[in-house]
Amino acid sequence: MDRQEAVKELTSRGCIVEPEAVDRLEENHIEKIKNLSPSPMVVNERLIDNLESGDVSLESSVDVITEIEMEKEKRDVQDFVDFYNDRYEKIKSLLLRRREIQSAVSISRLEDMEEREEVAAVGIVKDKYKTSKGKFIVYMEDPSGETKVLAEEEDGANIVQDEVIGVKGSLGDDIIFADRIVWPDVPLPDDIQSTSEEVYAAFISDIHFGSKDTMEEKLDKLLDWLNSGNSYAQKIKYLFVAGDAVEGVGVYPSQKEELEVTNIYKQYERFQEFVEEVRDDVQVIIGPGNHDFVRLAEPQPPLPEESLPDVHMNDNVHMVPNPAYVKVHGHDNGGVKVLMYHGYSFDEHVDSLPHLRDRAYENPEHAMIDWLKRRHLAPIYGSNLVVPDDEDPLVIEEVPEILVSGHTHSFAATTYKGINVICAGTFQSQTDFQKRMGHQPDPGKVAVVNLKTRETEVKEF
Ligand SMILES: [Fe+2]
Ligand SMILES: [Fe+2]
Repeated sequence: MDRQEAVKELTSRGCIVEPEAVDRLEENHIEKIKNLSPSPMVVNERLIDNLESGDVSLESSVDVITEIEMEKEKRDVQDFVDFYNDRYEKIKSLLLRRREIQSAVSISRLEDMEEREEVAAVGIVKDKYKTSKGKFIVYMEDPSGETKVLAEEEDGANIVQDEVIGVKGSLGDDIIFADRIVWPDVPLPDDIQSTSEEVYAAFISDIHFGSKDTMEEKLDKLLDWLNSGNSYAQKIKYLFVAGDAVEGVGVYPSQKEELEVTNIYKQYERFQEFVEEVRDDVQVIIGPGNHDFVRLAEPQPPLPEESLPDVHMNDNVHMVPNPAYVKVHGHDNGGVKVLMYHGYSFDEHVDSLPHLRDRAYENPEHAMIDWLKRRHLAPIYGSNLVVPDDEDPLVIEEVPEILVSGHTHSFAATTYKGINVICAGTFQSQTDFQKRMGHQPDPGKVAVVNLKTRETEVKEF
């Protein structure tokens, strides 16, 4: 088989063969590539090196699942309608998997039913208020109509505006007396999704380059360790950066006093130096946060190329939207799916829910788990700014293996129903603003997840 035929054969199997790899392709490579499962998307020089060294399976892979559309300039009321319809439909289909809600009828059909009949319905919450007896009246609607629901105190207090809930109860006159309010939640997994190889992913966030409080010495220690011959560090093949890579400029009033670098391009230069220093066999996956150089409204697009001019083309650098699903190491068993969301909705979210408000910043994992239960990253209206396209990108439609956020400058690593829930550590010490707010950050901690066992270790720098 000559080279041309070999390339043709690989292309017909859906592979992209990079030009440098074409010159090095040999017949025995073709056989080996054909035997890889799943077949690689790209045949490049690194893959050929690995084929020759027999180390092919350690080839890392990053598959960015989330794409966002940026073309639309003007948005109108219909976009908002479509946005909320999409939220409703997606979460309804998750709720219908719940046994209690399987018999749900559309709200308009409640009129034809008898009082005291057992009913179930799914709706988007329009409003709620507390009655003098401590219960809650909730107004909810679906595309067919609107109804009132009377919810017990605990359930009622946990309902938030604009989320999609299931209701099970008995029918009254123009009201459902709810026995239960049902949230979609995530199911218990049948088994633990992992990789057959022992490769690790590390998670960091909120470096805030350009701030006078960025802890450069801790970052240097992290880089020294990552790039050392340490056999543990060598197994790290993925480094996630969950937003706020730079401090930004003009993010809040009087921010100038907190800045060491006042030019945002210069701030990104520092971040770029950091990325350049990461071992090049580590895939660096970078999402934006509210201090970054992109629109604040979510979904946020990936960082623009001009923010990292010298590295954005590097094979190991992946700039992704916020939020984003990213599948890593997808060679075997399908890889591990990471949902990375910077976490801007966190502040409003915990503020609206009394049971989350206490110690919210000490234990940010509670709010993250709450997002999973509601299957939405910003269920509360106004907790983030949104760009309403025809879909709601903050619905947690697919269950990730790992959910990672930042933004709180606190650190947490726990699990919920088989999902690694990680609030990635910051590398910024307490700012004057945080001092005034009484918030003590927890800098310098890095969560490292073994993708084979899904166990997490915490490294402190
Ligand atoms: Fe931050
Ligand atoms: Fe942030």
